[in-house]
Amino acid sequence: MIDQISQLVVGAVDLIAAFLLLYGLHRMASPVTAPSGIFVAGIGMAVAILVTFLDIFGVNAAARPFLPVNIGLAVIALTIGGGVSWWGGRKVAMTAMPQMVAIYNGMGGGAAGSIAAVELFGHHTSGLVPLSVTLLGALIGAVSFAGSIIAWAKLQSILNKPLRVPYLRFFNLALFVTTVAVGCVIAFLSLSSALSPELIFGFFVLAMLFGIMMTLPIGGADMPVVISIYNAFTGLAVGLEGFVLQNPALMIAGMVVGAAGLMLTMLMARAMNRSISNVLFSNFGDAPAKAHGAIKGEMKPTEPADAGTFMRYAKSVIIVPGYGLAAAQGQQKLYEFVKLLQGAGVSVKFAIHPVAGRMPGQMDVLLAEAGVPYNMIFQLDDINAEFADTDVALVIGANDVVNPAARNDKSSPIYGMPILNADQAKQVYVIKRGQGKGYAGIQNALFYGDNCNMVYGDATSVLATMIEAVRGLGTKAAA
Ligand code: TAP
Repeated sequence: MIDQISQLVVGAVDLIAAFLLLYGLHRMASPVTAPSGIFVAGIGMAVAILVTFLDIFGVNAAARPFLPVNIGLAVIALTIGGGVSWWGGRKVAMTAMPQMVAIYNGMGGGAAGSIAAVELFGHHTSGLVPLSVTLLGALIGAVSFAGSIIAWAKLQSILNKPLRVPYLRFFNLALFVTTVAVGCVIAFLSLSSALSPELIFGFFVLAMLFGIMMTLPIGGADMPVVISIYNAFTGLAVGLEGFVLQNPALMIAGMVVGAAGLMLTMLMARAMNRSISNVLFSNFGDAPAKAHGAIKGEMKPTEPADAGTFMRYAKSVIIVPGYGLAAAQGQQKLYEFVKLLQGAGVSVKFAIHPVAGRMPGQMDVLLAEAGVPYNMIFQLDDINAEFADTDVALVIGANDVVNPAARNDKSSPIYGMPILNADQAKQVYVIKRGQGKGYAGIQNALFYGDNCNMVYGDATSVLATMIEAVRGLGTKAAA
């Protein structure tokens, strides 16, 4: 009787953890509620860990005697893991977020693979369906683990060049088929109890090798999309292992993460006008950039102070932030400048492209970090029509997301990608350090337009000079 009540309690707390994770995720849908969403999901995770301890080491220990009952080791692992991620989360720079997501995602895949390993090495799973689910979770988890580590190394610039070897795709296909075949042999031998641990070990090695070889040929700049795909994989692997362990919290959380990862991947691919297979197999960015001569006109530089002064006397300004703003960490200076403009009666709005920067929502997070109110931030579809009636479009460290080639050059690799119509504003100022290209590695006709001036320099220092210039105007006016 006591056992049954304890199991009911564990099941109920499991469901509470799953509910908290789902509710937290729901709150993350808007920047206004996202901070509390993260907090709620964190509580959900803490409850899930607690109930796992209760389940394994307490009420349900007799039902699972095979689990290593070593509470000391588990607490040490949790303390080290929790401590390192707490420290890492506080220290990480906004531009290094994708790496951090990659490594945490890899840990998730590794955890799902480890659950499968415990089940397989310990012969705890029987029956064709549970065995197949365990093996599928093991395969996906191991691929996601190894692939995410390679993605992390690429984003961290530890691995700089994509691997380009002839027939690599055929090798990868053969590797995948071999891994699946070994998995089938494991399932078959498990049923007849003649399974050797070496074969299971070989299966994991092959799966991880496949994850590595799949990721090595993909260029570093495509890694955010790849991480999002691996995120979907990890969720799926966790959900499958939750099914094997009959753990509802794992099943629900895994499937939600898997579905969210898949949707995010599709949204990112759509916003870049590329298919997922194009991201995985196209060697994007390898094509030589178009010759400079293809675009008519010259880039016209101007001084930061002149650009700042012009905006001070404009009626309306739309700001387009991009990767360079995040790289320069110029968000605080930008908002300081914006407040000065608003103080002078200028209407200022921010236009956000869905794939500006290097990870989803990066610009929203950057602006939120500087304290920019959400009602000043507009997404592409909601603001694009306004550029034509706007005095100034201020493009800061953005390039591809305002490149008109996406609209009118069929030969461009970004043709068809929706862009922000900055070129339609009466005057355009572009802040960037020099002639550097964007992520797609192509020229941008916007910079050569009659209505465009380049303000060269690091985004933060240019904004600092603009602030000084506009403040100076205020002082002169007062005098
Ligand atoms: P990009 O096209 O990458 O252009 C960034 C520009 O910022 C560069 O041209 C660079 O020129 C400038 N820059 C770099 N550091 C700077 C600094 N310190 N100060 C001032 N400027 C600086 O950026 P974007 O317009 O944001 O477009 C994002 C691209 O990334 C898109 O092609 C998108 O498809 C791709 N992408 C996005 C994601 C997500 S989810 N956001 C994921 C994968 C790929 P200089 O070197 O001359 O300064």
